[in-house]
Amino acid sequence: MKHSLDFSLRGKVAIVTGASGDLGFAMAQALGLAGACVVLSSRNRVKLEDARERIGIDKKNILTQEVDVTKPRQVKLLVRKTIESFGRLDVLVTAAGVQMRKPAIDFAPREWERVLKVNLSGTFFCCQEAAKQMVSSGGGRIILISSLTAEIGLPNMAPYVASRGAIRQLTKALAVEWASKGVTVNSIGPGRFRTHMTEELFASEKIRESFISLIPMGRAGIASDLSGLTVFLASDHSKYLTGQSIYVDGGWLASGGNPLG
Ligand SMILES: NC(=O)c1ccc[n+]([C@@H]2O[C@H](COP(=O)([O-])OP(=O)(O)OC[C@H]3O[C@@H](n4cnc5c(N)ncnc54)[C@H](OP(=O)(O)O)[C@@H]3O)[C@@H](O)[C@H]2O)c1
Repeated sequence: MKHSLDFSLRGKVAIVTGASGDLGFAMAQALGLAGACVVLSSRNRVKLEDARERIGIDKKNILTQEVDVTKPRQVKLLVRKTIESFGRLDVLVTAAGVQMRKPAIDFAPREWERVLKVNLSGTFFCCQEAAKQMVSSGGGRIILISSLTAEIGLPNMAPYVASRGAIRQLTKALAVEWASKGVTVNSIGPGRFRTHMTEELFASEKIRESFISLIPMGRAGIASDLSGLTVFLASDHSKYLTGQSIYVDGGWLASGGNPLG
């Protein structure tokens, strides 16, 4: 018997939060190129329009929607607009996130809360709204963005690290709760990627060399390194995979911080 393995996402509809950012954009592009209709969302209309122009997908398969993920009402509207435009929702990717760097003792309460609010609460609100729709239509795929810092501590980013550890646990909690409803929940943990968020780190040769020295593959990630895994997790072929955090890090975690032995 001839088998075929088709990773096409034709007929599926995906929401990507943080789609104006480098990683969210690449993930949205991968889903769109695989055939999905894509809803690009972030807070900034201008950046979203720019993303829509650059993405290289048929414009009729794209919707842009301004959303602050910390505002549950806006998140509800995002899902409603998606259904109004495309009639269904199959995939959610939560790539909206913020990072703030300073010594732990210097974080003001509102700074701590801000990071947790976007990275954890905002992610949860999106999962909740998407799952309502997915459960009622028989299933879906939720892909959260986590980080290496869900597994290891790094200095000067305490709330960020805490938020990523929480995403790892949220992935498991939602996966178990929604498993019988056909909704899978997994997270992708990027290693060190060169993006708007990490530009400052890459600008310093000393810092750049120190973290590259920890990566067995000897290079930082580029946004398209997430494309294949994103399409796989969004596809029907991942239907028995749930509750997992998968790290795309050039081998950093596997080496335990000791790439040269
Ligand atoms: N770069 C890395 O090395 C790395 C590693 C591990 C994990 N990550 C995670 O991957 C995700 C994407 O990061 P990136 O590197 O692509 O960063 P980025 O280029 O700075 O993108 C961040 C995105 O989040 C959006 N955003 C921020 N606050 C928001 C809010 N309240 N509501 C809605 N959207 C919001 C931003 O858009 P607006 O400002 O227009 O709203 C932007 O689209 C983040 O969660 C980050 O923590 C990144």
